[in-house]
Amino acid sequence: MAAPAPVVLDTPDPDFADLLAARPHLTAHAMDGLVMEDVPLAAVARDHGTPTWVYSAGTLRRRARMLLSALRDAGLDASIHYAMKANDSLAVLRVLRSEGLGADVVSEGEFRIALAAGIPGSAIVFSGVGKTAGEIAFALSHGVMQINAESAEEVERISAVACSMGAMAPVSLRINPDVDARTHAKISTGKAENKFGIAWTDAAALYARMAGMPGLRPIGLAVHIGSQITEGMAGFRAAYARVAELAQGLIARGLPVERLDCGGGLGIPYRDEIAPTPAALAGAIKATLGPLGLPVMLEPGRWIAGPAGVLLSSVVLQKRGAQRRFVVVDAAMNDLLRPAMYDAWHGILPVAPDALRAPLAPADVVGPVCESGDTFTRGRSLPDLPPGALVAFLDAGAYGATMSSTYNARPLAAEVLVDGARTALIRPRQDVEALIAHQRVPEWLDGGAA
Ligand code: LLP
Repeated sequence: MAAPAPVVLDTPDPDFADLLAARPHLTAHAMDGLVMEDVPLAAVARDHGTPTWVYSAGTLRRRARMLLSALRDAGLDASIHYAMKANDSLAVLRVLRSEGLGADVVSEGEFRIALAAGIPGSAIVFSGVGKTAGEIAFALSHGVMQINAESAEEVERISAVACSMGAMAPVSLRINPDVDARTHAKISTGKAENKFGIAWTDAAALYARMAGMPGLRPIGLAVHIGSQITEGMAGFRAAYARVAELAQGLIARGLPVERLDCGGGLGIPYRDEIAPTPAALAGAIKATLGPLGLPVMLEPGRWIAGPAGVLLSSVVLQKRGAQRRFVVVDAAMNDLLRPAMYDAWHGILPVAPDALRAPLAPADVVGPVCESGDTFTRGRSLPDLPPGALVAFLDAGAYGATMSSTYNARPLAAEVLVDGARTALIRPRQDVEALIAHQRVPEWLDGGAA
């Protein structure tokens, strides 16, 4: 795979007012500082400490509704299966379930969490390039709505598992349309060189074979070309056009095609990207797949959850280096991995009211982890941030907590849900004891257990 292109930012960073204007659930209050919905973030930090993920329930609801209504307005018979890899908190899933969303899962773990959140198997799509026989059996025994198969080998495996259980597996074939989504190389999935899907040129033959295989019920085609797609609709349109052409051919051969899965990938503006709107996505689906008149599904993750969350963090100290000012915060790459992994840009807002109005100077914001890559940003215009000052990393609701690790023996951060003026701790901060509790020292090692 080609190395990721270096990120070149040739426009000035948005200022605090720009960042706030684009995020209606966040406001700057003259007394309380940065407020999410009706809750001052300083109060969340006081009550729950930092680093803490804070999610806005109202934003999750609003975004789920916006997406659903864009699909309906385009005249599509569409359902949304939220890609829970973006944020798998039970509380988040409950909010989205009550808006009528199902789930897209990629492991038995996610499947079990979805069930625990009250999402039935009949509303769950099972995606992923390497499902084990055990995971397939688990999905079938819980009445999975659809398994998206990604290879001929996997189709054989699903057939064998289903037969051994006396079940019929509803299988959709994920095609690789060989389309460039023009996103970061590490999250591009629809090119022929990527591991995902079955080559679109091989899909029709495999689908026809599936129709004759025991234990399988072919139900349609699926496609997902990548994530954080912001460069217009061309990639989506090209991928959906391939799906449409293939589906038409299958139907013409008398093969059953019940529905089409359009994947996720809709990008969001982290900095100043011009992200396509839900209406534009719905329009692209309508224009390409609409003539088939089949129900369609969408698997968005980031678009729904990303803007709804912040990572709240405290400044540990401000270090005046030989060349630069380093703001060392108590969150790190083990919490929010995206900047280290994808050079991702996240807005950073100070929380205190006076800090939102204070003079700015360049700073590197870094975490305490022992790697230079533990850098959230370089040369960002920020006010003086003394020890204890709070900052919020924006758009951290998707691929934030779910990608956390305990690297450097840093326990997982707490998670809080805000809904209007209400707050609730939805995952207490992990304690260090939990990092030790499930470890074992072999008896035969130097005298045995400590
Ligand atoms: N469906 C499938 C089959 C997927 O693989 C994904 C994401 C989605 C749906 C949801 O895509 P979304 O709507 O969120 O773009 N960790 C990366 C993103 C990885 C996305 C993986 N697949 C990041 O932080 O940018």
